[in-house]
This record gives sequence, structure tokens and C-alpha cells, in this order.
Amino acid sequence: MSTSLSEILTGVSSLREQFESQTKDVSSSERLEELRIKYLGRKGDIANFFNLMGNLSAEERPRLGEALNLLKNHVQTSLDELTRSMAAKKTDDGYIDLTLPGTYQQEVGYTNPLLQIMEEVKEIFTGMGFTVETGPEVESEYYNFEALNVPADHPARDLQDTFYLSNGLLLRTHTSPVQVRTMEKRQPPIRIIAPGRCFRKDTPDATHSPIFHQVEGLVVDKGISFAHMKGTLLAFGRKLLGDKLRVRFHPSFYPFTEPSADYDFSCVFCDGKGCRICKNSGWIEISGCGMVDPAVFGYVNYDYEIYTGFAWGMGVERIAMMKYQVDDIRHFYENDMRFLMQF
Ligand code: DAH
Repeated sequence: MSTSLSEILTGVSSLREQFESQTKDVSSSERLEELRIKYLGRKGDIANFFNLMGNLSAEERPRLGEALNLLKNHVQTSLDELTRSMAAKKTDDGYIDLTLPGTYQQEVGYTNPLLQIMEEVKEIFTGMGFTVETGPEVESEYYNFEALNVPADHPARDLQDTFYLSNGLLLRTHTSPVQVRTMEKRQPPIRIIAPGRCFRKDTPDATHSPIFHQVEGLVVDKGISFAHMKGTLLAFGRKLLGDKLRVRFHPSFYPFTEPSADYDFSCVFCDGKGCRICKNSGWIEISGCGMVDPAVFGYVNYDYEIYTGFAWGMGVERIAMMKYQVDDIRHFYENDMRFLMQF
């Protein structure tokens, strides 16, 4: 067979045109494979052209070689490209099993232990007929101190203890202002808790943090006594930490309660016998409580001849540290996944 170089080159370019038209709308990977064999196979069209090399002179061969290599590379990259885009569309062909687990593992978030405790506290008290109130973290001196009967010269009002803002407001130092806000807008009977964030100028260490959490409680009705408070806190403590829990009260002073007390929970780890967690005392200090001072009722126009009430605070961090045996309060805020993943 003697064919001139120009005829062969014409043949190469029509092969290229044929390839272009055949790959225009390939819709299956079987078809792609057929085309790969047809053009690139050992006995395929391009290989057949290479076989014609022997008919050409030494000067002509490189020219055909160049044309064929160009075509071969073009066919190769086009087919690879088509294979890749077909793989991306494979779902249409039902090739991908969507029920197989993915290779990407989604990280799951964890609820901070403090929030978990607050949720549990809310659940227990709402189960006892309480409702949940909230108040602003940026508070006025009136609600944070004055209406709670905290005198102007009380050390808690000191610049050293309270974050005052430049606009005359402050960051609430406790959740007690929510008591006043609630009583202002509602009449007895009152049975509320108020969970939230509080702020004090404390230098952070293992047991102090300038931001911490409290849950406030308030009950006001006719004939409410200290005994109701003892029963309420005991019932709550047992629901949260187990039936063996005991509560102990000792005299204290708060301007907004009279009489006032501090209360402790028996250590749930040693049953009150004394251990490392409770520093051998058998008890864990939770917060303060007392009978609402008549002066506070005066600020909200409740008649203290008719109504009495009790109120208490609760340190959420203290409960969480005891419940989860955490010995440094800073762990709760540092967002260390190794810590948070344990809850
Ligand atoms: N507000 C007090 C504190 O932050 C805790 C407290 C004491 C709350 C007595 C009360 C209470 O409601 O009656 O230390």
C-alpha cells in the first residue's frame, strides 16, 4: 500500500473530527470504554495509523509521528475528562450507594456541663410548679442593690467588687434583681426560679471566676415559712443529687432577707463522712437564702402584713464541681474539647 503523507495526514484529521463528534454526547461509561478501545486500543484507529509509518520516508515519519502523538494525547485527555465528569454525575445512574457511611466524620457538639446543670435545675423546679424568669445581665443599681435593701455603703457596691459601666449601669453581681423585677410586674402567689450569668471583679483562680452562674429562687404567698424553704431545697437537692442528700442551714446575713442563712448540701461522694471533694468537712457550701425582708416588699408594694416569702441563690459552678468532681472552675470556660467531651 503506498499512500502519500498528505493523504495520511488528511486521514488523521478526519479521525480527529470523527472522535469529536462521537464524544459530543456520550451518556454512559460503557460507551466511553468502547471509544477508548476504538481509538486508543492496541489495534485501535490511532495504532493503525502508526502502522503506516513504515510506508514513509525517514524525513516524513517525524511529521506523521507528531500529528499522531498530538491526536493521541488529545483523545486521552478528552476521554479522561469525560470519565471524571461522568463519575461526578454517577448518582443519576444509581452508581453511588447513598446509604453507605460517609468518609467525613461530622464532629458532634457537647452541652457545657454548667448548662446541663441549669437545664436539670429548671426541669426539677418546673416539675414542682415553678416558672422560669430571666432578667438583664446589664442591670441598674436600683435593681441590683437598692430595691434589694443593699445600703449605699455596703461593700458589695464597692468599685472593687462590681463592674460599673460608663453609662451608669452595671453588670449584675447576682440573679437576685430578678426577684424585684418579677414582683414588680406580678402579684402573689409567686413561685419562680431565675437562672443566669453574673459578674464580679474576682481574680480567676481554681474556685473564682469573674463570670459565673446562679439560679435564684423566690416564693411569696400567704403563710410561707422557713420550713417551706427547707422542704423545697431538700426536695430539690435530692432530685438533683440523690435520695441520701441532706441540707444544712446556718445563720448568715443578707440585706434582702431576714432571717438569712447559708445552706450546704451533704457531700454526695462520702455521704457526709468527709473526703477529698468536700475537703473533709462532709458538706459543700451552695449559697444563701432566707425569708424575704419586709423592706424588699416595700419596694414592690407588697403588703408584708399579708404576705411572706423565701428566696435563695444557688451557685451553679459549685454544684457542677461537686457533681462532676471538677477541681478547677476554669475548666468550664476554657473550651477544651478533652474536658467538654466527658459530659
Ligand atoms: N444573692 C446572693 C449572692 O449572690 C445569694 C442569695 C442569698 C440569694 C440570699 C437570695 C437570698 O435570694 O435570699 O451571694
